[in-house]
Amino acid sequence: MKTTGTDAGSTSAAAVASPEPAGTDAGPAPTAAVAPPRGSGTERPGPQPVLTDGLVRLRALNATDLDAVVVACGDPDTQRWTSVPSPYLREHAEYFVLDFAPQQWRTGAGLVWAICGPDDRYAGNMDLRISKSDPGRGNVGFHCAPWARGQGWTSVALGLACRWGFETLGLARIEWRAFAGNDASRRVAEKVGFTYEGVQRSRLVHRGERKDGWVGSILPGEVRLPPQR
Ligand SMILES: CC(C)(COP(=O)(O)OP(=O)(O)OC[C@H]1O[C@@H](n2cnc3c(N)ncnc32)[C@H](O)[C@@H]1OP(=O)(O)O)[C@@H](O)C(=O)NCCC(=O)NCCS
Repeated sequence: MKTTGTDAGSTSAAAVASPEPAGTDAGPAPTAAVAPPRGSGTERPGPQPVLTDGLVRLRALNATDLDAVVVACGDPDTQRWTSVPSPYLREHAEYFVLDFAPQQWRTGAGLVWAICGPDDRYAGNMDLRISKSDPGRGNVGFHCAPWARGQGWTSVALGLACRWGFETLGLARIEWRAFAGNDASRRVAEKVGFTYEGVQRSRLVHRGERKDGWVGSILPGEVRLPPQR
């Protein structure tokens, strides 16, 4: 499904597990001092990388995930704290899994992984997006399916994604944003090593309503991969 708009129902909102639609980029213009990350903005050959700590796996989404994506994105907490479409329909999942996610990898715009446990079943999404104006800056978004929460999987997944972004893409900074009050998301970010940087008043729009946003960041060398439980 391809629609237009900036909030629920837009193609970008169909894609992301973040408070902001994909493609949002309010950063300053790049300067000569910003070193581009390795391979950014270029067509990427080959399959998307699989990342794992031996228990949690990040892999490319595929058609077998569709039913689970629909259920997970319709979860009330995910609807409340992210910009996924509301209601979340199968066509949103089809666009996200079959079109948007592979395109993100191919074009170098970012990566969308399925978070999986040891059985390789879909348990959530992890997105790492590269800023269009500053290719040294990334931005993460995530959600965990209700049936997989509380096991530490999202924290491990976030650590794996950030480490890969620093080591392989050469990113200099990765940002986390959440609607103010999303304590579970903040806890995940801080466990992995993000530094909370503050509240940005009226920074985000959620289903037509302006909300305060929390922002944090992590720099190379700061990732702490949480131990397995
Ligand atoms: C936020 C979310 C991804 C966490 O997923 P998860 O797999 O349960 O995360 P983890 O198990 O890795 O860690 C969760 C941590 O948050 C803590 N936590 C959970 N709910 C919390 C709450 N309401 N307030 C404070 N901390 C909370 C847990 O205790 C745990 O910390 P601990 O390991 O110190 O005990 C999941 O709740 C979710 O998908 N929420 C809806 C979508 C969302 O908010 N996405 C983030 C958008 S910015």
